Amino acid sequence: DLRGLAHKTGVRIGSAVAVDPLTAEADYRRVLRREFTSVTAENAMKWESVEPERGRYTWEGADAVVDFARHNRQAVRGHTLVWHNQLPAWLTEGTFTDEELRGILRDHITTQVRRYRGKVGSWDVVNEVFNEDGTLRSSLWLTRLGPGYIADAFRWAHKADPRAKLYVNDYNLEWIGPKSDAALELVKGLKAEGVPVHGVGFQGHLSLEYGFPGDFADNMRRFTALGLETAITEIDVRMHLPVTEEKLAAQADYYRQALSACLSVRRCAEFTVWGFTDRHSWIPGWFEGQGAACLFDEALNRKPAYHSLLALGRRR
Ligand code: G3I
Repeated sequence: DLRGLAHKTGVRIGSAVAVDPLTAEADYRRVLRREFTSVTAENAMKWESVEPERGRYTWEGADAVVDFARHNRQAVRGHTLVWHNQLPAWLTEGTFTDEELRGILRDHITTQVRRYRGKVGSWDVVNEVFNEDGTLRSSLWLTRLGPGYIADAFRWAHKADPRAKLYVNDYNLEWIGPKSDAALELVKGLKAEGVPVHGVGFQGHLSLEYGFPGDFADNMRRFTALGLETAITEIDVRMHLPVTEEKLAAQADYYRQALSACLSVRRCAEFTVWGFTDRHSWIPGWFEGQGAACLFDEALNRKPAYHSLLALGRRR
């Protein structure tokens, strides 16, 4: 199984976890426990989930994921502290001064990281801060606090748990281009200023339509050359439906190449899929006519992609 592969390779193999099936579906829990050495809450640790009203914290979902992981000796990736999305309405619709907003962000990071100190090994501190052209994304945080919010977020998180690995995380970073160049410049700058940043997460939301990022491994190496960890944090490989054997074979090849890229890079620490089963995947809800992006089908049967990952282990 994938757990065996993780132990053999030294790379954590993880999955995003949705709280509803974690609670309600025994077969979902069984596969999650059997196959993965790491978990990431798909939504339960996001700000709107943990603090829907100001000062009223709802940790139940996040705790359920963390408790499951501890019970099954799995690592936990914390996702995510600073994002422009899935923010609570009280925050986006409130009227705060810039200084208040800065305090609110600091408190949020401090509270959440402290709560899971020693339990969450890595945090996606800032998520999706770049535009495709490499400029910083316009968000509440950038417009109100200026670009310094990024360094602040890392410093606050580090103070709250000095042992946690702190990451910049984004999508479409797999290719070498303006976006990954900008991420490289950002982390270089942060390191030069002594900001505690430890890793860069490549989400890896791939599509058969756009081809496999052939320069993925080389790209990761640019980051590890700076002394950082890398991780593939949210991989899935979507296709236009219906599913055919050809598409499943192509998908298997993408997954294999992605893990192979990670294994070829020293300090690629984790390979996490964004959901392990087509039964619960964000893809059909977001891309019309697309789906079947995961390692297991809706009935939790192993797909060719699953076997292609295991085969990588046999060759080592
Ligand atoms: O909270 C409501 C719930 O009350 C309601 O019953 C339900 C009905 O649809 O909707 C719930 O909110 C949904 C939420 O997931 C929780 O399930 C939202 O509609 C839905 O849009 C939201 O989607 C999530 C998405 O992030 C939102 O940004 C996906 O599940 C999640 O997979 C996705 O994850 C992101 C990563 O965090 C960052 N990288 C990209 C990745 C894919 O978009």
